Amino acid sequence: MKKYLFLAVALLGLSASAQDISLPQPVKKGGMPLMEALNNRASAREFSSEALDHQTLSNLLWAAWGYNRADKRTAPSANNKQELSLYVVLAGGAYLYDARSNKLLLVNAGDHRASTGKQPFVAGAPLNLVFVEDVNKKGWGKTDAGFISQNVYLYCASAGLATVVRGMFDAAALKVSLKLADHQQPVLTQTVGKKK
Ligand SMILES: Cc1cc2nc3c(=O)[nH]c(=O)nc-3n(C[C@H](O)[C@H](O)[C@H](O)COP(=O)(O)O)c2cc1C
Repeated sequence: MKKYLFLAVALLGLSASAQDISLPQPVKKGGMPLMEALNNRASAREFSSEALDHQTLSNLLWAAWGYNRADKRTAPSANNKQELSLYVVLAGGAYLYDARSNKLLLVNAGDHRASTGKQPFVAGAPLNLVFVEDVNKKGWGKTDAGFISQNVYLYCASAGLATVVRGMFDAAALKVSLKLADHQQPVLTQTVGKKK
């Protein structure tokens, strides 16, 4: 009996740690002046393993690919097709950023950071973003991903975070860890964390 009770408590614990995350409202004011942020923009390949707090995640994701008008976003997309989705890979799970509800929707519990790239730092950095194109929308996925990535670079420069955009990744591995459908293609990845 005790054994079953223990198992039930353990399972409850697991489900409690792996679930959707509601983010706080993003702060859309302030930050570093644009010209200073451009002057500080740079790629880094060393990251602290410390987790990013939810306010920082919310600000970062809104800056990257949030809505700044009713149906348009902080980055442009050809013909406003918005063919890209942002997947957020944290130590505790892989999530889809839902910009409308400002939530991270759990797609795969567990630590999948190592699957997001071929460079060793990806496994220990607190956040890896994966830009996934819906090829059915017939947009300009790689080009549009560049704009989102630059938004992330500028937010990181402003917030004093380290980041690097990455083309070196295994798309097949990502399809598994992010449970992607056939029409979903990873086109770019980006690591973010505190500076080491
Ligand atoms: C499309 C693209 C793919 C990149 N892929 C990688 C990568 O896989 N790994 C990496 O460490 N840096 C990657 N970079 C970062 C570049 O190496 C970096 O931007 C360049 O060296 C210039 O340095 P800076 O960003 O500090 O100006 C990539 C950059 C771009 C634009």
